[in-house]
Amino acid sequence: MRRASGGEVRVREARPGDLGRLLELYALLERPEGHLAPLASGAAEDLFTRVLLDPNQRTLVAETYGEVVGTLVLVTVPNLAHGGSPYALVENVVVDEEYRGEGVGRALMREAVRRAREAGAYKLALCSNTGRSEAHEFYRSMGFEETHVGFEVRP
Ligand SMILES: CC(C)(COP(=O)(O)OP(=O)(O)OC[C@H]1O[C@@H](n2cnc3c(N)ncnc32)[C@H](O)[C@@H]1OP(=O)(O)O)[C@@H](O)C(=O)NCCC(=O)NCCS
Repeated sequence: MRRASGGEVRVREARPGDLGRLLELYALLERPEGHLAPLASGAAEDLFTRVLLDPNQRTLVAETYGEVVGTLVLVTVPNLAHGGSPYALVENVVVDEEYRGEGVGRALMREAVRRAREAGAYKLALCSNTGRSEAHEFYRSMGFEETHVGFEVRP
């Protein structure tokens, strides 16, 4: 793969043809100890169709030299609290290993923040595993502050 250096990074919404590349990128998010069973044939396509049709979530991809090299998911949730202002969440943030440190993540997150602001969200929040210290530096550099303590249970 060519390096992103010098190449323009373009952020757009994902489309059906991005599925294979997204699955490759999501594989990079799996923990070394994780043993996720591969999706059954057709299941990924069905899920991706639902994802793309969901009005509350947008899968953003970053392209350089016409290649998808990073992605995140922005979820904007309609909300009765907070005066009816939606809240926004970011998930599945990942950049191809060969393209890290070249501004791809920054371009994706800037677009997520812009869209959350445009939607009137009162906050844009995310959770990150405590072990991902490099990602935490990335989030801090994008203006995220550690204002809450995250809890999780595997239902
Ligand atoms: C975290 C991640 C998305 C960052 O994407 P990226 O494209 O490499 O980040 P950028 O090049 O846009 O970096 C933007 C800023 O973030 C900070 N940053 C990024 N990576 C960093 C690192 N490894 N260490 C310290 N700071 C870092 C820097 O301040 C950087 O600005 P600079 O280049 O001017 O110094 C990417 O490293 C990644 O995919 N990591 C593995 C998956 C992961 O951990 N995802 C998060 C799950 S919660």
